Amino acid sequence: MKHVIMRTVLLCKSFLSDGEVNNVIKNINLEIENEDFTVIMGSSGSGKSTLLYLLSGMDQATTGEVYLEEEKITNLSEKKMASLRKNKIGFVFQGINLVPDLTLYENILSPTYKTRQNRKQIEKRIDTLLTQMELEGHQKKYPSQVSGGQRQRAAICRAMINQPEILFADEPTGSLNSSQGENVLDIMSEIHREGQTVVMVTHDLKAALRGNRIIYLRDGRIDGDLRLSEYRKDETQEREQVVYQFIKERGW
Ligand SMILES: Nc1ncnc2c1ncn2[C@@H]1O[C@H](COP(=O)(O)OP(=O)(O)OP(=O)(O)O)[C@@H](O)[C@H]1O
Ligand SMILES: [Mg+2]
Repeated sequence: MKHVIMRTVLLCKSFLSDGEVNNVIKNINLEIENEDFTVIMGSSGSGKSTLLYLLSGMDQATTGEVYLEEEKITNLSEKKMASLRKNKIGFVFQGINLVPDLTLYENILSPTYKTRQNRKQIEKRIDTLLTQMELEGHQKKYPSQVSGGQRQRAAICRAMINQPEILFADEPTGSLNSSQGENVLDIMSEIHREGQTVVMVTHDLKAALRGNRIIYLRDGRIDGDLRLSEYRKDETQEREQVVYQFIKERGW
């Protein structure tokens, strides 16, 4: 059933740099619905990555609250936070960040260490993910031995391995050429179709079209919230016009 899976209340984040306070996220009230593919756009420095870190428990808010399924996740102990990140959150980082001296398989498996899961089930899930992400035959290779697209797909496998309640992705196509990017976006769309809640940051219009909701961030505040229908390839042109208009009005 559709419901609010994550919400924030007056969320703020400030950094101190050179003795000056830099308010990066400013009083954000945001509700994210499950099974949505929410896209966050906004210019460089508008706070997109920072917001994603706060939502996913990677970083602590300065003030304000974040709730996941009505559980307050702000100000949890470090131990509880680590457990939450491991069990409920999947994260694909901006820029590739697989561990270079682990194989793709070991990278994907790493979030399952120290969880009480059945090995057989994990192995089955990895196999399914490897097939879905078209990585069969590459699992024994190291990140430096595969293409950027394959690395990014392995990063998505790793983020999905513990069946997260929300999958966050920060510019997952940012470092890829256009065909690799399309391929990763197809996979994100497929994961979403299967019922995964996705929150993705992007500055790429093509990537944004995959979402069914686009939030525009400007200078740490929400400056626009656009609802779209579910993604269909044959409607790409119409979508592109609607989204382009939306971001252009906001000074893109
Ligand atoms: N750890 C930090 N310490 C100090 N300042 C930070 C830190 N992280 C981010 N900032 C500042 O916060 C602002 C927003 O950064 P953020 O990375 O969230 O932007 P972004 O929208 O993701 O940009 P981009 O599109 O370039 O990735 C920037 O001014 C940045 O310098
Ligand atoms: Mg960023």
